[in-house]
Parts: sequence; structure tokens; C-alpha cells
Amino acid sequence: MSTFTIETLGIVGTGAMGRGIAQIAAQAGLTVNLYDANPQAVEAARKYLQDTLGKLAEKGKISAADAEATLARVKPCGALEDLAGCDTVVEAIVEKLEVKRDLVAKLEAVLRPDAIIASNTSSLSITAIAVGAKAPGRVVGYHFFNPVPLMKVVEVIDGLSGDPAVGDALMALSRRMGHTPVRCKDMPGFIVNHAGRGMNIEGIKAAQEGVAEFADIDNIMREQAGFRMGPFELMDLTGLDVSHPVMESIYNQFYQEPRYRPSPLTAIRSVGGLIGRKAGAGFYRYADGQKQVPAAAVVPSARPSSVWVSHASERGHAMVTKLLGALGVTPEGGNQPSADALIIVTPLGLDATTSALQQGLDPARTVAIDTLLPFEATKRRTLMTTPATGAPRATPRMACSRATARQSR
Ligand code: NAI
Repeated sequence: MSTFTIETLGIVGTGAMGRGIAQIAAQAGLTVNLYDANPQAVEAARKYLQDTLGKLAEKGKISAADAEATLARVKPCGALEDLAGCDTVVEAIVEKLEVKRDLVAKLEAVLRPDAIIASNTSSLSITAIAVGAKAPGRVVGYHFFNPVPLMKVVEVIDGLSGDPAVGDALMALSRRMGHTPVRCKDMPGFIVNHAGRGMNIEGIKAAQEGVAEFADIDNIMREQAGFRMGPFELMDLTGLDVSHPVMESIYNQFYQEPRYRPSPLTAIRSVGGLIGRKAGAGFYRYADGQKQVPAAAVVPSARPSSVWVSHASERGHAMVTKLLGALGVTPEGGNQPSADALIIVTPLGLDATTSALQQGLDPARTVAIDTLLPFEATKRRTLMTTPATGAPRATPRMACSRATARQSR
């Protein structure tokens, strides 16, 4: 195999991912054949595309004629054999190795020998999916993200037995569909879901340890760290029925690497059906598809009589002094706090208690502020109290070992 022309795309599995891939392909001018083991899912996907394209036309993003022509390129199919003429088939079926292998075998029986078989798997090995195929060189990973039309990145994964020209063809197809392809090797989680362990697993661990509430962690990641969504919002979107098995799978594929260990928190929620947006309840509740935002923590109105900022980090000292200045507060001078001053420390990588003790400060009056990211661009601050930080100066919500709060400007 060397060059490929991809004009007709088959999609097997027309759920959340399949229909998104169908949309961008049809909008790019490809003919798209939809097949699903459940015929109602094909009908639902076509209806979804009709509604979505209709909305895009209403908003003026595409013309009504384009919407109509795009929909006309989408062909519902009643049997796998109807995909026979496809140049490439992308499978987005259930995330089970044996089922995907079985589908590859069935597709090989139907497709031309030079047609590409791509898998949208998020956690299985492409090499493993290709095992047993008559022509494993044409089996390739094609990992889109949800929702496909908005998430513009796609991973193209070469299995160990993959033909590089097949990956090249999908790189070109991605660009044609307006996506940015990233080529990667067949390793657990590929790139994005590998890096995502840092966000999701750590986010869950922070919640599990009582560090902060789900919504607080999301708020900080979104409004301070600059992510579009926090880990719990993201897991609610993906659904724990998908994310939790992915967490288990990646953990086990890395031979129980402790950093990737999943949490009983998501196991219990999965069993209990609190899987996210599609179930109406996950880490958040949803009413008419709208996330119900928990009430924000109350910001105390009382101000301390004086504030002292640690000099242990001159950068942190400067940042907090500037922040206080914007609130109309001038911190105390001097190398030690006065007897009643609220003490602010700015550790990077240390907890508030250790910082206070290392610096010989009174933990009962100490609060840490996270200064990792510049304050200017963001609206949220992360505060960490010590277990001894005086209750009278803190709201009940802030009396846990760490808390997040809005900047009281
Ligand atoms: P989904 O549950 O929304 O849709 C799967 C569809 O496949 C269903 O309509 C089902 O009837 C059909 N199906 C199942 N087994 C089949 C078979 N043997 N033959 C034909 N059709 C079959 O699932 P979703 O979320 O779209 O995921 C599909 C794939 O995409 C999975 O491999 C998943 O890991 C992957 N993925 C999911 C992401 C997500 O955020 N949901 C993100 C990236 C990848």
C-alpha cells in the first residue's frame, strides 16, 4: 500500500463519537456510511446530524444549502455489508478488545483489500486490535475527542504492524476535516489520555482526600489554571461508564503504576449510575441538560486587623503584596509578624502547616496562597489553611485543610 484516496468513510458505532466523526467528515465533503448493531442508533445519529446541521444553518455558520447537501452525503446502512465500497472505516463501538477484533475480521471480509480500518479506541492497544487481522498493516488508531466537531485534535496511532502510509493517509484526512492530527506510538493512553492521568486521577485524589469539593477543584482548574473544563466536569461529559474503565485499563497496562491508580470513588459512582451528564447525574446534577452549580463558598466580610506576608519567597511576597494592595490593604513591614497579624505564606510544593513550622510561624494564624500561576490573568485563588488555623477567622468551609475561595475584590 502506498497512496490512498479517501472519499467514502464508513462509521461503525453511531453513538457519541461515531456521529461526531460522521459530522466532520460529511461537512468536509466525504460520503459517510453509518452502521450500528442497533438500527435505532443509526436513525438517532442521522436525526442528530439533521438537527445539528439545521442549528448551524440557523446561526448562519453554514448555508441552508450546505446543511442539506451535507446531510445528503450521510447514508444510513442496515448491514455491515453495505460498507463494502468504503475507502476507510472508523469503528467507534464498545471499548472491548474481543468485540473490536471480531469487527476487524468482519470488516476484512467485506472491504476492499486496500481499505483502511481505523479504531477510535481510547484505551486499547492498536497492535492488539490488529492481532488476528489478515492484513494488520491497514489497522490504525484514530482517536478523536468528545465532542468531535469542537475538539480539534486527533491522535493517529501506528500499531507495531501498521503500514506508515495508512497513518499518513489519516493525517491528511484529519487536516481535510479541519482537525489537527498528532502522530503517536502505540502506548497506553497514547498522548492525551496519558497526560490526562495528571488531571483526572490527581483531581479525584484531591477530592478523595477531602482537600476540596469537586466544584472547587473544577473552578480552580478552569479559572486559575486555564483549562476549558475541570476534571469532574470533563468526566461528567465523557461519562464514568467510559472514563472509569479507561482509568482501570491504563493503570493495568502500565503494570499498576501507582501514579495512575484509579479510585474507589469513581468505581462506586459507576456502579450507582452517577455516571455524568447523560444520566442526568454525575459529580454534578443536570436539569434539562444544564449543570446545576453548587452555591459558592461564602467569603467572610470581616478583615484582620493586620496582615504579614512571608519573605520566604520574594516572588510570592511580591505577588501577594500587590494583590493586597488592590484590596486596599498594606501588609506589615518587618521580618516577623506582629502578635495579632494574619500570616500569609506562599509555598510552592509544601503544605501550609509545614511552611509555617519551617519558618517558625504560628500555624493558628497562617494561611497559604498558591502563587504558582500569575494572578493577573485569573479570577480564583487557592487558599490552604493549616489544621490549627483559627476557626474564628475562617468560614466553616475554609476550616478544612485546604479550600478555594473567590478573591474578595
Ligand atoms: P457509545 O456507547 O455512545 O456508542 C457506541 C455505539 O456502538 C452504540 O450505538 C452501540 O450500539 C454500537 N455498538 C456496540 N457494539 C457494536 C458492534 N459490535 N457492532 C456495531 N455497533 C456496535 O460509545 P462512544 O462514547 O461513542 O464510544 C465509542 C468508542 O469511542 C469507544 O471505543 C470509546 O472508548 C471511544 N472514545 C470515546 C470517547 C468519549 O468521550 N465518549 C472519547 C474518545 C474515544
